[in-house]
Amino acid sequence: MSKFYITTPIYYVNDKPHIGHAYTTIAADVLARYHRLIGDVVFFSTGTDEHGKKIQQIAEAKKMLPQQFCDGMVKDFKLAWQKLNISYDKFIRTTQKDHIKTTQWVLSYLYQNNYLYKGEYQSFYCVGCEQYKQKSDLIKGRCPDHGTVPEVHKEEAYLFRMSQFQNCLADFIKKDKLLIEPKERKNEVLSFIKGGLEDIAISRRKTDVYWGITLPFDSRHTVYVWLDALLNYLTVLGWSGDEKISEFWPPDVQLMGKDILRIHATFWPSLLLALNLPLPQRLFVHGYFTINGQKMSKSRGNIIDPIAIVEKYGTDAFRYFILREVSFGKDGDFSMEKLKQRYNADLVNDLGNLVQRIMVMVSRYLKGKIPVLKIEKAELPSIRELQEQTKIAAAEIKKFDKLVNELKFDEILVWIWQKVRLANQLVETSKPWILVKNNPQKLEKVLNDLVSSIVEIAWFLLPFMPETAEKIINIYKGPKIKLEKPLFPRIV
Ligand code: MSP
Repeated sequence: MSKFYITTPIYYVNDKPHIGHAYTTIAADVLARYHRLIGDVVFFSTGTDEHGKKIQQIAEAKKMLPQQFCDGMVKDFKLAWQKLNISYDKFIRTTQKDHIKTTQWVLSYLYQNNYLYKGEYQSFYCVGCEQYKQKSDLIKGRCPDHGTVPEVHKEEAYLFRMSQFQNCLADFIKKDKLLIEPKERKNEVLSFIKGGLEDIAISRRKTDVYWGITLPFDSRHTVYVWLDALLNYLTVLGWSGDEKISEFWPPDVQLMGKDILRIHATFWPSLLLALNLPLPQRLFVHGYFTINGQKMSKSRGNIIDPIAIVEKYGTDAFRYFILREVSFGKDGDFSMEKLKQRYNADLVNDLGNLVQRIMVMVSRYLKGKIPVLKIEKAELPSIRELQEQTKIAAAEIKKFDKLVNELKFDEILVWIWQKVRLANQLVETSKPWILVKNNPQKLEKVLNDLVSSIVEIAWFLLPFMPETAEKIINIYKGPKIKLEKPLFPRIV
């Protein structure tokens, strides 16, 4: 038995949960469920990132207190995760008292140990964009969109000595002590680090950003929202600074989209090195979704709300689609048309149909009698129990393990669907409706084999489509088949 700590990023509450957030969270949920299934002790965290200027400004525009605004938005996230059947162990909000306290502890620690110094924060303001730019956003010192040289703003700030970690970090990443996947992403990070890590401003003047955690040693400043946000991965474990960190530390996998890899591969591990804490084992980076080939954005009005999809297609159909359609790690495209096609082809015709046909035939031809699945624990069979009672070969389980550990979700689903199609073919070739007339012994064997295949398929599906898989296992648990409505009604 081992521990497994998995995190999603914590999401900004200025947007309602959308398909991009849902993507990371569903993938993390699949891993968490899989690890629970094989008996690991799992800690799966997610949450919301609630400080910073963006949120401050939106709340002001809505004439609300920032806290009040955040409280409202958090409800939407919690509701979305409930609808998507996300089994997180802890949901952290960065406005929680314990998080604030620990962040201040870390700030004092960094200050006392000379990791922080007072300097200047230089920012670049592009009037064309009406936005502050990072130096790294500029091309030859100019705004890439307007070609103009931005105004330079300078203000007093505290800086974190990130530059001193440059070589140490490069070494950790090169040697995969901090594993970054897919591989292209690792190379990207290494070449960025090689270009030089600069010290990073970690505070803003309160006159500019008041919606943030106050620096314990200088109350005129609040902390940069990313420092506050990254610490969530520590504070969610209940760590308060001086005592020993929980046994779950370090994270086994941290999931994120490609836009936030750089900060997770530089600032984040540098902070941990400064704190003398072990680095995460592995950062896994997924791609971006476009919608009908277009970038998803508020101005285009093409933001996809996962709850609306769940209401039409059901939770498991959405979970299936989003992981089946695109290779995790690559960019992909979402469209309602593709969702409908896959729903009707893979779920209604292949899986739903298989479950239904066997159920009806067992009920008709065998008076509903099937071999009993002996299940020790209350609800679900463990991998060992299942292996003992069905015909799943050890090699199959090994293959499944390997693909899950490589986060090849699309390949796993393709592989499971091969089994579904094979079982449907077996129905066609063995023709139970003829066997019932002339070969009852063979009929029983064929139907029992099919029941085993279905249970096996359901077991592999448990992390991906938990409700559907449980339903299937319950139908076929024995000693008598339980009749159920079709799993996936056709959608036209
Ligand atoms: N608050 C920060 C993370 C702090 S973690 C210490 C943040 N939040 S976010 O709400 O903007 O986005 C979080 C996640 O959603 C990222 O992993 C990002 O990649 C993902 N996505 C946002 N839009 C996306 C798509 N269109 N497609 C896929 N994922 C995308 O960044």
